Amino acid sequence: MRSTTSTTATAPDHLTPVLGRYFTRTWSHGEGHRLFDTDGRAYLDFANGIAVAGLGHHHPAVTAAIHAQVDRLIAPVNAVGSAEPVDRLATMLVEELPAPLDTVFFLNSGSEAIEGALKMARRVSGRPGIVAFRGGFHGRTYGATSVTSSNPNYREGYEPLLPGVHIVPFPDVYREFGGDEARATRECLAALRELTRTTLPASAIATVLIEPIQGEGGYRPAPAAFLRGLREFCDEHGILLIADEVQCGFGRTGRMWGFEHAGIVPDVVCLAKSIANGLPLSAIVSRRELQERWGRSAHGTTFGGNPVSCAAGIAVLETIRAEGLVANAAERGAQLTAGLRALMATDPGIGDVRGPGLMVGTALVRDRTTRAPDGERAERVIQRCADLGLLVLSCGVDHDVVRWIAPLDVTAAEIDEALAIFAEALRSA
Ligand SMILES: Cc1ncc(COP(=O)(O)O)c(C=O)c1O
Repeated sequence: MRSTTSTTATAPDHLTPVLGRYFTRTWSHGEGHRLFDTDGRAYLDFANGIAVAGLGHHHPAVTAAIHAQVDRLIAPVNAVGSAEPVDRLATMLVEELPAPLDTVFFLNSGSEAIEGALKMARRVSGRPGIVAFRGGFHGRTYGATSVTSSNPNYREGYEPLLPGVHIVPFPDVYREFGGDEARATRECLAALRELTRTTLPASAIATVLIEPIQGEGGYRPAPAAFLRGLREFCDEHGILLIADEVQCGFGRTGRMWGFEHAGIVPDVVCLAKSIANGLPLSAIVSRRELQERWGRSAHGTTFGGNPVSCAAGIAVLETIRAEGLVANAAERGAQLTAGLRALMATDPGIGDVRGPGLMVGTALVRDRTTRAPDGERAERVIQRCADLGLLVLSCGVDHDVVRWIAPLDVTAAEIDEALAIFAEALRSA
């Protein structure tokens, strides 16, 4: 089988070798924006469990909320009613989302949210077709795997996957369209229309599913005009537009939600990762009428909406609001992007630096003209960064993009520190 992972570290004796690991270190604890290994060494953590600990580690408000809830009620009570933190977090999420998104279905993981959203789309529309985008990553369960195409290793050997899924081109502006957003938008919308002209009638499509900014696929933002075109296409044909905000949501892009950059409102939004700063929790949000049509007991969960996770989620949102962290993500993201562009001016191996906000990707290339990806250098650089005390990860099908997932409350001094380490790693890796 082709090796398709850059996560080369080996697993400890009795832990699965299947999980990809970037580093072999064993972690002892986290404090603020630092992770500490068992030798007591501190690392500036710009990986955050892959965009999970948006507020860093051992955040006082989140930890206090968890402690308080543990003393009141731990077990989920979905089958027998509801619980105060669960209701309250749903209300707070709806306050953050545009109308008419007003109804929340809590689950445990991003994959589960995608899985549930796909089931809802098919059941509510009575249509089989699901359209997703090349390079998208939506999770590891069967439905989520079926709509994932960010790496062949995630699909290989699992066929037949879910029938009715069609993967169409994503506007990869940098690599495939020479930086021309308008052409990328035009051609990818045309490819979608061509699908409906030749292969799958639009009237058979239940949903179009997209990450407004692709995560695992390479930190690739969809052009705003493309997302607006998708919205129009879905409206024209009565198709549900699902936004996978699992990685790009919760302020990461300098807006609360990735889709906001395009000024659109999806029909369904899937949330997870940083929703509870590390406790397992995810959500499907849509207008109420859709979930009413989905139907009572058409879907369910044992653990989804755990009260402790929801208490953590409330503390996360309160902190984001009280500390203006969405604006901080925009400001610190601009600082990081400017610093990386300055490095790009002197290092021809950096082909692209792209945001938005604190969802920053640095594409390493063998040659700026061909834009040929340099995953090997990216791997060397992230290992060197770790040796120098900074944790960053890679993404993209060729593992050529160094991704920066700083905490939302990162400081200017920490961004400068990370940039200095990265500059040294580029020189010496
Ligand atoms: C955009 C996106 N969707 C879905 C998922 C799946 O989430 P989980 O690993 O919690 O199942 C991920 C995980 O990386 C993701 O980045």
